[in-house]
Amino acid sequence: MKHQGKHPGGNLTSRMEFVLLGFAEVPQLQWFLFGLFFVIYMITLLGNGTILVITKVEPALQMPMYFFLGNFSFLEICYVSVTLPRMLVNLGTQRRTISLVACATQMCFILVLGATECFLLAVMAYDRYVAICNPLQYPLVMNHKVYIQLVVASWISGIPVQVGLTFQIFSLSFCASNVINHFFCDISPILKLACGETFTIELMVYVAAVLFVSDPFLLILISYIKIISTVLKLPSATSRAKAFSTCSSHLTVVVLFFGSAIITYLRPEASHSAATDKVLSLFYTVVTPMFNPIIYSLRNKDVIMALRKLLGK
Ligand SMILES: *[C@@H]1O[C@H](CO)[C@@H](O)[C@H](O)[C@H]1NC(C)=O
Repeated sequence: MKHQGKHPGGNLTSRMEFVLLGFAEVPQLQWFLFGLFFVIYMITLLGNGTILVITKVEPALQMPMYFFLGNFSFLEICYVSVTLPRMLVNLGTQRRTISLVACATQMCFILVLGATECFLLAVMAYDRYVAICNPLQYPLVMNHKVYIQLVVASWISGIPVQVGLTFQIFSLSFCASNVINHFFCDISPILKLACGETFTIELMVYVAAVLFVSDPFLLILISYIKIISTVLKLPSATSRAKAFSTCSSHLTVVVLFFGSAIITYLRPEASHSAATDKVLSLFYTVVTPMFNPIIYSLRNKDVIMALRKLLGK
């Protein structure tokens, strides 16, 4: 890019390092936070790992819904592993520098995996919609080929836009400071450090957020409105309760994840404060991946049965 040629002038991007402040404003809590996030990371790996294993090995769970669930757990493991290990190293060693390349790589993975998460949650809502609203057509609509295609599409369709966006963001020049007041390389803390015109980029971020966050969210909303109106018409109370229990767990994950992501990425840049950004992003990077397996398994009889079997062996 052009800026490589104009080093003598401004020393603009010659600093090839950022500093990730993390939770530096509470120095007395560093070891506590280290312990806390370490435990959270272990719970997330163990919980999602267990779901991944049982959806693969348990014959009773060989259905599209559990294939999506297993793949979602796998995604959550990847997603937390992009932010938490780095954060633990920062907290444990108190060395907070991160190279520009590492920072860009981290952002790129977060955006790509975040888009995958949005799409996969939408696919899972659609799956429930077909199963509950068109049960007779379900085996036809959700055949092996279709559900594999839906998952593959969820994984790859975010890649070109998100890689492009990351590339655009990191070709800005950073002259204000190199201190990122956040615990990972997210968009808004990085944009704060850029100098010159950032309006175009902010607009691109906004469009991407609408595309990858709001659209799946609307799809999920529509699916659930249809599901709920169908369920309310079911004759027996037990079948209503069963349909609601499979959907309510999914809906809990959706509200937690999309709620925090929408507030973070669709708010105007000016209204961002570092403290609220940190707390909000903890929800979609750390809290949802940890609670996802708990929410699903505690509310799902098939998963609990499979767990019992696994532990009994
Ligand atoms: C989830 O789906 C993606 C895309 O098809 C695939 O690469 C990955 O291996 C799957 N993971 C699991 C655990 O099924």
